[in-house]
Amino acid sequence: MRFHLVVLALGVVFYCLYRKHEEQADLIAEVVEDGAFVYQPDGILEYIEQSLPGILANPLVINKNALTNLQNATFLVLCRNQDVYELLETIQSVQDRFNHRYGYDWTFLNDKPFSVDFVNTIVDYIPRGRLNFGQIPPEQWSYPDWVNQTFAAEQRESMANENVLYALSESYRFMCRYYLGFFYRHELVAKYQYYWRLEPGIKLYCDINYDVFQFMKLNNKKYGFTMTIFEYSKTIPSLWFHFKQFIKENIDYNPPLLEFVQNDDTLTSYNECHFWSNFEIADLSIFDNDQYNHFFNYLDQTGGFFYERWGDAPIHSLAILLFLTPNDLWWFGDIGYYHAPYLQCPQLAQLRLQNKCSCNPNEDFTDSFLSCTRHILDIINSY
Ligand SMILES: *[C@@H]1O[C@H](CO)[C@@H](O)[C@H](O)[C@H]1NC(C)=O
Ligand SMILES: *[C@@H]1O[C@H](CO)[C@@H](O)[C@H](O)[C@H]1NC(C)=O
Repeated sequence: MRFHLVVLALGVVFYCLYRKHEEQADLIAEVVEDGAFVYQPDGILEYIEQSLPGILANPLVINKNALTNLQNATFLVLCRNQDVYELLETIQSVQDRFNHRYGYDWTFLNDKPFSVDFVNTIVDYIPRGRLNFGQIPPEQWSYPDWVNQTFAAEQRESMANENVLYALSESYRFMCRYYLGFFYRHELVAKYQYYWRLEPGIKLYCDINYDVFQFMKLNNKKYGFTMTIFEYSKTIPSLWFHFKQFIKENIDYNPPLLEFVQNDDTLTSYNECHFWSNFEIADLSIFDNDQYNHFFNYLDQTGGFFYERWGDAPIHSLAILLFLTPNDLWWFGDIGYYHAPYLQCPQLAQLRLQNKCSCNPNEDFTDSFLSCTRHILDIINSY
């Protein structure tokens, strides 16, 4: 009698192991076929690694159960495999302070294929939503053919002699150019309406107790920002010249937001104010249109990304000033946000208490002499 029970138990165990093996084999087949599979918590990534050693299918989409009534939105992070632990800081902050209530999707882009280790490390930190892992096409992360690379290399050297930050870095330049001309066209990003751009190693200091994407939608906002700042001008010496040239050739109206970057309205001066674009909650339709693409191509043709070191922040800002109106903008002044070396910490004590902020309001950047936030708020409020 006892012997029969043992045989029966072993039979059940073997049957279950067999079924499990079969299920996982099915999932692998799905990955190979269409580059997407449904996440199963038990070791499925190891199985994938055996069939695609070291490299994951690109793009890889992991679908977890999302809540309903969400906006069409994703977090967007450009990162490398070695950024994984800094990225966990970002994810922990955003999940704990905001996303655990919603389960919005995350999209990770890399100029190299993501490693299995990277995906395995990230996947368990995000219990809900879709996780997109994508690679940037190499032709969008390299020199366009009209750029003289010898000249670009000479210019990098001379910027290094002037101690310009990231003077010698080619990948920094590719990254800036990618964030201007290409990110919104990536298939994993283009399927959304809104994105919230984040970077590895940032921190949120306050709870966010409402759906920021729904807020954007209900209030018809297109571009949400936190800090604003002056650029270090050695990186963009000819940008204003080319920008004025673009306006002369293409813009036949008077953009109401241009005042943000001018000390008068004659286009003679450039105060170099811009939105600090490492944080953006924005509508992709700002970029995904002919007008913006023409603007990007115009500036790209000058080679300024490579002969100088044009950042994505000043140019994103110039585009927003040209193509949006003050009503489209929103300052997320209630969000406690840190990106080295600056911090935005709300000044209202009651708001800090209510949202459990853990930042020091005396270190808030908003009224620093390097900040342009009061200037843009004046423009928005008086429109
Ligand atoms: C590229 O730049 C180098 C260095 O400035 C210059 O000598 C060369 O003539 C340039 N080539 C072209 C095709 O303009
Ligand atoms: C989300 O927005 C994108 C871009 O506008 C659109 O193509 C897509 O169909 C939308 N998805 C849903 C589920 O509404």
